[in-house]
Amino acid sequence: MRKITLAANWKMYLDESNSISFIHKLNADKDLFSDKDIILFPSHACIRAVKDHLDISLKIGMQDCDMHTQGAYTGSTSINSIDIDSCIVGHSERRIVYKETNSIISDKLNTILSSNANPILCIGETLKEKNENLAISVLDKQLSILPQDLDGKQLTIAYEPVWAIGSGDVPSNEYINEMLSSIKNRLKSLYSDTDLHNIKLFYGGSVDASNIEELLSVKLIDGFLVGSASANFEKFKEIVRKIKL
Ligand code: PGA
Repeated sequence: MRKITLAANWKMYLDESNSISFIHKLNADKDLFSDKDIILFPSHACIRAVKDHLDISLKIGMQDCDMHTQGAYTGSTSINSIDIDSCIVGHSERRIVYKETNSIISDKLNTILSSNANPILCIGETLKEKNENLAISVLDKQLSILPQDLDGKQLTIAYEPVWAIGSGDVPSNEYINEMLSSIKNRLKSLYSDTDLHNIKLFYGGSVDASNIEELLSVKLIDGFLVGSASANFEKFKEIVRKIKL
C-alpha cells in the first residue's frame, strides 16, 4: 500500500506563539497524528520551539536555506544551524519574490544534498507558460539542475503549478498526471533504479480537505505539499483524517 506523505508548509503564517499552540493541539490528538508521515515546515525562527513542544514523532523541515553553510551572510540561515529532516528548495515564492534563479537553486540543492536533510525541490509553470504550452519544457529546465546520482539520498520533487498556489484553482487529475508522468520519464532517463526508488513525487497548490480525496486517485502522487490549509489546525486535521496516511 502506498504511504502518502503530508508536508505542511507554514510559510510566514504562524508566529512563535501560534506555532506552539498548533503543536499543543497536535499533541492533544496523539492517536490521529502519531507516527504519520507528516513533515512540518515552521518558519526558521519557530523551529526550535516546535521541536521543544512536540510530543509525538513527526518530522521537521526548513522552508529554505542558504547555499552556504557558514560565514558572513547576514540574515541568512544555514542548513546546519539546527537538526532537521528535510528542506524545501526552489519554491515559486523564492523564485518569483526573491528572484532565485535556477543557478541559485542548484547551489542550494547541492548544499542540502551534502547535509543530513533531504531536499524537496519545487518546480512548476506559471499560467502564462501553461497557456503557451510551455509547461513541460519549463519543468525540464527546472529539473536540469538535478545531480548525476543521489548517493543514497532521498529526493522529493514537488510539482506545484504557480497558478494553483493560493488560488483555489486546482488542476484536473488528468493534467497533474500528464505533468507527473513527464517528470517521471525525465527522472527515469537520469537515474538508476536504486536512485529512482529514493525519489518521491508530490503535488502542491490549493490542496485542502475538499479536494484531497479526488487528488489521491492520481497514482503517481506520493505526497502533498500543503500551504495555507496546513497552517490552520482544524483544516489540517481534516486533511489528515481524509488521507488516512
Ligand atoms: P497553498 O500553497 O496550499 O496555500 O496553495 C502551497 C505551497 O505553496 O506549497
